[in-house]
Amino acid sequence: MNDLIAKLPKAELHLHIEGTLEPELLFTLAQKNNVVIPYPSVEAVKKAYRFTSLQSFLDIYYAGAAVLIGESDFFELTWAYLLKCQEQNVLHVEIFFDPQTHTARGIAFETVIRGITRALERAEAELGISAYLIMCFLRHLSEESAFETLQASLPFKEKIIGVGLDSSEVGHPPSKFKRLFEACAKEGYVVVAHAGEEGDSSYIWEAIRLLHVSRIDHGIRCDEDDSLVAYLRAHRIPLTVCPLSNVKLRAVNDMKNHNILKLLHQGLLVTVNSDDPAYFGGYVNENYEALIQNLHVSPEELKILAKNSFEASFLPQERKEYFYRYIDAL
Ligand code: ADE
Ligand code: ZN
Repeated sequence: MNDLIAKLPKAELHLHIEGTLEPELLFTLAQKNNVVIPYPSVEAVKKAYRFTSLQSFLDIYYAGAAVLIGESDFFELTWAYLLKCQEQNVLHVEIFFDPQTHTARGIAFETVIRGITRALERAEAELGISAYLIMCFLRHLSEESAFETLQASLPFKEKIIGVGLDSSEVGHPPSKFKRLFEACAKEGYVVVAHAGEEGDSSYIWEAIRLLHVSRIDHGIRCDEDDSLVAYLRAHRIPLTVCPLSNVKLRAVNDMKNHNILKLLHQGLLVTVNSDDPAYFGGYVNENYEALIQNLHVSPEELKILAKNSFEASFLPQERKEYFYRYIDAL
């Protein structure tokens, strides 16, 4: 089965590039850039990666991102992730980045986007991995700050396919950003949002009805509302599920109780993703492996999950069909 996972072509649709910062690179960049971090060693960094909730993770994740200063840092971070994709046969990625995490520290939007896109272009050319970029707004910050970020993105619009919404969910519902997402759609951005990770199913309904998302990130709390499950199924709205993340952040108490297969069996378009792999103990393949170890997923279901990852992507239809055929032939 692990052999099948390795062989399957996969797309990753829920991945925060700042969440791929491995402790070793964090440590190296802190020294290079003279950024003080509260850890004396790589081992101490690893020890700090124990979380009790989304917020307990976000505090450490934003602190870690402070070591990213120059364009080359963003390049190196992104390139390391793309090499991992090559190793795991992840052939298409739709990557989130959080501009406000960097602009708030005085790093130019342009520095961030140039570093990331240089790595994406190299991956297309040298690794045959296609990549789209999705800019996320931090929902704990104001609508005004998000509008400023939208404005800053416009000179780079051709490099960004869409927008998303992340950070602390509870208390920051999608309704807070209704006007922002209308403006984003007018600019031609596709729209996704984190919803139903820690927040209840009403956050998912709001993301659908008020933000008009074409995908829900996480969405695992949908199963507390049968009418929502029926709606997601009828409209084939994808959920980008992140199993290891959900257990690490205690949105789910044990992998054995994760509802991803239940949702698959209910006919939902669920996909497997890593979210912040450097913090949660695994990239895409390790997330698939966790399903084998804990949920008795079958080889046929693994193939469906891999196909779903392409169906739920923003790739052109003919490219999706190429991957369906590739998977059928395995
Ligand atoms: N930013 C990075 N990872 C996140 C997650 N799992 N939920 C919300 N915001 C995030
Ligand atoms: Zn996420």
